[in-house]
Amino acid sequence: MDAVKVGLLGLGTVGGGTVNVLTRNAEEIARRAGRGIRITHAAARDYDADSITGLDQIEITDDAFDVVNNPEVEIVIELIGGYSPAKELVLQAIENGKHVITANKALIALHGNEIFAAAQAKGVTVAFEAAVAGGIPIIKAMREGLAANRIEWAVGIINGTGNFILSEMQDKGRDFDDVLAEAQALGYAEADPTFDVEGIDAAHKLTIIGAIAFGIPLQFDKTYTEGISKIGQQDVAYAGEFGYRIKHLGIARRNGNGVEMRVHPTLIPERRLIANVDGVMNAVLVMGDAVGPTLYYGAGAGAEPTASAVVADAVDVVRALTTDPENRVPHLAFQPNELSDIPILSIDEIETAYYLRLQVADKSGVMATIAGMLAESGISIEAIKQKEPTEKGASVSLVLLTHRVLERQMNQAIEQIESLESVEGEVTRIRIEQLES
Ligand code: HSE
Repeated sequence: MDAVKVGLLGLGTVGGGTVNVLTRNAEEIARRAGRGIRITHAAARDYDADSITGLDQIEITDDAFDVVNNPEVEIVIELIGGYSPAKELVLQAIENGKHVITANKALIALHGNEIFAAAQAKGVTVAFEAAVAGGIPIIKAMREGLAANRIEWAVGIINGTGNFILSEMQDKGRDFDDVLAEAQALGYAEADPTFDVEGIDAAHKLTIIGAIAFGIPLQFDKTYTEGISKIGQQDVAYAGEFGYRIKHLGIARRNGNGVEMRVHPTLIPERRLIANVDGVMNAVLVMGDAVGPTLYYGAGAGAEPTASAVVADAVDVVRALTTDPENRVPHLAFQPNELSDIPILSIDEIETAYYLRLQVADKSGVMATIAGMLAESGISIEAIKQKEPTEKGASVSLVLLTHRVLERQMNQAIEQIESLESVEGEVTRIRIEQLES
């Protein structure tokens, strides 16, 4: 089956990231969607051609309406941002019977009710996962994964730039303007950074979260909005003295007969997981009556994290266009005839670092012999500690951390070490994973 043809509006940070992700992962995406997804047309006035792969396959115009009105295009991805002409373009795409994917939180928060009504009338999809918390699939989680629950509240760090500023002020004592300039250079900040600093961007996202949480229309104008510009270095420090951290939170909560919708700097106890979400990262904590609290964490901005959500929406739309409607989402995520026979590795073939604990005789040369055996097996030691014996003449614990090595090599070394007369019993081995990005 031919690839689905997509028209992309905007080739900026997220637009470029979307082209790159769709190009790099084309094969895997087609295996999931049941059909290829190809950007055939794009509209942009200004773009960095060197940072985008696959542009030669795309017909580029500087008039976005050309793309929206092109009969070949089945899905329009709107990544221009802002209210206008994004709204006119999206409504025109819907009018033309095209499915729409957007990362535009301002557009959805302010005009979503009108856009969704138009889409329903035309029988097309409007998907907007990337509009809230970048790469975190929070809309899918709340709308589908938590569908059994009455959602009591949802609280989020939903502006990466603001969180980056507060984190740097707290951890490094850096100056507000200096950190904001860095966030802008990294491509996290909005075109108008007051949207980040004054909480408007977070309020757009909270408006969407609240609507999905409680089943209410989008009501941006009723969301209380306060930014972080009045937070000083001393507030961050004093809050720390009381065991709190200051985070810029969006809070949507049921309260008696109404709901609270508010964005403002907030002190939260530093022992809470969400208090430790730092830098440009986002997190949303959702309280459902059945499931209790669930926490969603990840990159809330940036080219490829946001593209991740945009492309996931494209896969959803294409699945709906292409596959058996009763099995829209394949049981194992990939289409049944696209499952791969990539082998599962045996534990011998995995590579990790290790913590080893041995009980050894407290005499000279033992540590050197063990270190020598590890070296012979190609295992490099990162740290070593010998504990004090509990009584004179008793054996001692020897604890080692190693660098990464194949499990098979470690098995050989442990077998040798356990055969030493100076080693009591078995070596305790615990694998170490740094879980770094
Ligand atoms: N300016 C936004 C942020 C970008 O910093 O989170 C993602 O919406």
